[in-house]
Amino acid sequence: MEQLASDKLPTHLAIIMDGNGRWAQQRMLKRIVGHQRGAETVKMMVKQASQLGIKYLTLFAFSSENWLRPAVEVRALMTLLKKYIRQETARMMQKNIRYNIIGNRSELPDDVNQTLDEAIRITSGNTGMVLTLALSYGGRQELSRAAARAARDVQAGLLAADDITVDVFGRYLDTGGLPDPDFLIRTSGEMRISNFLLWQLAYTELYFTDTNWPDFTINEFHKALADFQSRERRFGKTSDQLSTRN
Ligand code: IPE
Ligand code: IPE
Ligand code: MG
Repeated sequence: MEQLASDKLPTHLAIIMDGNGRWAQQRMLKRIVGHQRGAETVKMMVKQASQLGIKYLTLFAFSSENWLRPAVEVRALMTLLKKYIRQETARMMQKNIRYNIIGNRSELPDDVNQTLDEAIRITSGNTGMVLTLALSYGGRQELSRAAARAARDVQAGLLAADDITVDVFGRYLDTGGLPDPDFLIRTSGEMRISNFLLWQLAYTELYFTDTNWPDFTINEFHKALADFQSRERRFGKTSDQLSTRN
């Protein structure tokens, strides 16, 4: 296992959990079996991240574009999501984890929304890790919804157009109140963002692995974190400036 420095962990870790379908297809199994196995990796990751003391974990679970998949797969994913939330809420209480959702919830089925509302309500007083699930989430969709909300506030006289700074606009996003991700992991070898957190990933360190999500292990997670810890985040400054704290 890699040696990790506890003071240099990402505050906010985001993950594009990809490769469930291929994992299953390579084993002549149905895609949904890959999603079921992927849910087991989610349980492991939530446990590991909260044990390590990561404050925010954000998981891309279902994208705006995933609605275009065959109806049977979409239905199976919604059923799996409800099952996961129901099964895991007790563990979230044990581990002091709070649920948060980003994405366009109005596109989700009513029964899924009810299950989510309940889990959010039950865990709302928890003060440990914030587990954000991105559901029916697309970065461009989020940005256009935020722009519409800000425009409505301008129309209502609550906001001046010239006051829309980076910070102010950030508060109109679904992630308002969350810090930007420090580290993004994407599994399954795809090197793209797929419309995830377009605004928030501006200065995030990116990490890609060929491993499919159901095969992602604690060991690999630690390897990824060790890689994060070896990086110098300059945010536009020079390396010298960082070492002399100028
Ligand atoms: C990620 O796995 C899970 C979701 C997008 C819901 P995929 O289902 O995209 O797996 P691949 O990319 O087809 O292997
Ligand atoms: C991104 O994975 C969405 C989630 C992980 C939920 P996709 O598998 O949908 O991404 P693309 O379509 O291959 O880019
Ligand atoms: Mg995929």
